Amino acid sequence: MDNDLLLEDDGLPIRSFGNWTRDKLHYLESYISMFETSMRQKKWCARCYIDLFSGKGKYRIEHQKEVYLGSPLIALTTKHPFTHYFFVDTEQENVEILSKRCNAFSNVPKRFYVGDANQIVDKIVAEIKSIEQNRPENTWTSLNLAFLDPDGLELEWKTVEKLAKIRKMDLIIHYSQSGLTRNFENYVNANDETILDRFFGGPEWRRIYQKYHLKEPSSVHKHLIDYYKSKLVDLGYAEVKDVEDYETTEPVMRNTKQAPLYRLLFASKHERGHDFWKEVIKRDASGQAELW
Ligand SMILES: C[S@@+](CC[C@H](N)C(=O)[O-])C[C@H]1O[C@@H](n2cnc3c(N)ncnc32)[C@H](O)[C@@H]1O
Repeated sequence: MDNDLLLEDDGLPIRSFGNWTRDKLHYLESYISMFETSMRQKKWCARCYIDLFSGKGKYRIEHQKEVYLGSPLIALTTKHPFTHYFFVDTEQENVEILSKRCNAFSNVPKRFYVGDANQIVDKIVAEIKSIEQNRPENTWTSLNLAFLDPDGLELEWKTVEKLAKIRKMDLIIHYSQSGLTRNFENYVNANDETILDRFFGGPEWRRIYQKYHLKEPSSVHKHLIDYYKSKLVDLGYAEVKDVEDYETTEPVMRNTKQAPLYRLLFASKHERGHDFWKEVIKRDASGQAELW
């Protein structure tokens, strides 16, 4: 199907987002394009795209008419498609709408799951491992990209750990800066495990927050992101060196008042993935060089 036709309103429900969504999905689209163009060697036994918080597949910008492709359809309509797709959403309606949209134009193998991504991830990891175990001789392991884009803080660290068990699994992670900021004070002294503990994979974030929020409040997220990235390194992800400051590697999406909403964190076990990412984030959706 022609991509212009895909952008038409197909009559199925469409969710509206703020205009910063276009930047987020522009980074995803650019990364997929570089990744698939350079890495699509025949020797991988599979190239999988995993979208754990898929949504409905299309979206509008608030108060505008135009229809845009959401992350699942961006990944499906890329010039060199992946060989397998895995989509998850908690809302049955979203998954039904998404599967109609995806199946309308692409026969590539796709799996759709309704449920909590933090549980469904086990099935997806098992499925990719089974593809690898049954791969033809003389082929390599699978090459994978997971886009982890919840509305807020729903992504749990244990899910990231599970994905990292697959040897080649690049990650683009939604870091909800505003969601965290809103919740620090509610949860920093909580007795029970909180959504923030699950996001960071333990209570260590509390110590970091307490250390910086009074003396250097503007640096709290920098320290928390450094901590999150150090945990990614512990999982086997490449450490990014020569970074002047985190603003240059974790692009920030801002609302219309320029307040930060969320960032995208990137992880790859290979330096080359980071080289692609650095290229990707140089320009936002409007083609403007990022000033951060
Ligand atoms: C920001 S939207 C995703 C947008 C999508 N990436 C796109 O580009 O169109 C987040 C989605 O995650 C879903 N969601 C929220 N919590 C979830 C969970 N625990 N597991 C799976 N999906 C969840 C929501 O229903 C929503 O559709």
